[in-house]
Amino acid sequence: MNSQVETESQTQNNSKETFLADVLEGLKSTPKKLHSKYFYDKAVDQLFQQIMNMPEYYLTNCELDIFKNKIEILAKSILIDNEPFDLIELGAGDAMKSSYLLEHLTKKNIDFTYMPIDISGHILKELDEKFRRDLPELEVITLEGDYFDMLDKAMSISPRRKVVLFLGGNIGNMDLEESYNFCRELRRKLNRGDILLVGFDLKKNPHIILNAYNDSAGITSSFNLNLLIRINRELKANFDVLNFQHYQTYDPISGACKSYLVALVEQNVHIRNQVFHFEENELIDMEISQKFSQDDISKLSRDSKFHIIDEIADSKNWFVDSIWQVV
Ligand code: AVI
Repeated sequence: MNSQVETESQTQNNSKETFLADVLEGLKSTPKKLHSKYFYDKAVDQLFQQIMNMPEYYLTNCELDIFKNKIEILAKSILIDNEPFDLIELGAGDAMKSSYLLEHLTKKNIDFTYMPIDISGHILKELDEKFRRDLPELEVITLEGDYFDMLDKAMSISPRRKVVLFLGGNIGNMDLEESYNFCRELRRKLNRGDILLVGFDLKKNPHIILNAYNDSAGITSSFNLNLLIRINRELKANFDVLNFQHYQTYDPISGACKSYLVALVEQNVHIRNQVFHFEENELIDMEISQKFSQDDISKLSRDSKFHIIDEIADSKNWFVDSIWQVV
């Protein structure tokens, strides 16, 4: 075994141990909880693709509308006197939306380096190959790992001004306290003049929001249940997915859109040598998709000591990319 392979298998073991520890801790808490960051394995990629194609799930199309149709305004608000900069994308994935910005900036001969950060080396490799093929003029440095560690790395690689993208409404998958801590931590890592562009899903007619997460085809349900299947496969557990049912809520006052799995019968689930007892109707808290008002966004930016320099909404005014600067 060469040292590269040793390092990779070590990393896999570490992440499996962390996954196990988080699952055990979550299932010991009251109410039982599983962290939605573990939804994203290879098997769920296809399901998430299906979610994005569902007529009810408007988030992707809204932000795409901004990146396709308002790219000129968006680009203008992140450029300062044509000064060279690094464009960092947190959780870049397939860069579907940011590609429009990258193409636009490249066409305008703007001097910048794209630094996508993702936890998946596989995704980053594909992204790198895609840009080499489709946009060879673009300078790309891929950064594999945790957002904040990789942000530190980006800072050490180059002293240029930073523009950080955090798209897709992903900030909503943190509860409010986590999102406040996240923005404060980001602020600490950035310097005066740096920019953060965050995509927020806005509070709107509650039926529209609930439908986006409670689709009649049951895709969101499978998306949630897939985490139990992943736990069975990777942690040798014995969840019976037929014994659990997806339940979605939306509270239009707080903006919290939450998914749960409900135990349909009293049962025991084994994970390694531990037993978890479920009463009939007991819940597992699975995911929050927080929705924001304009006021919520202003409070968050103010608290983390950013200054809002622009807000670009889609044509329906359902989603906003809010552009913040470190003052
Ligand atoms: C990735 N994230 C922004 C999605 C959301 O809308 O909260 C995840 C998702 N969960 C259910 N459907 C989509």
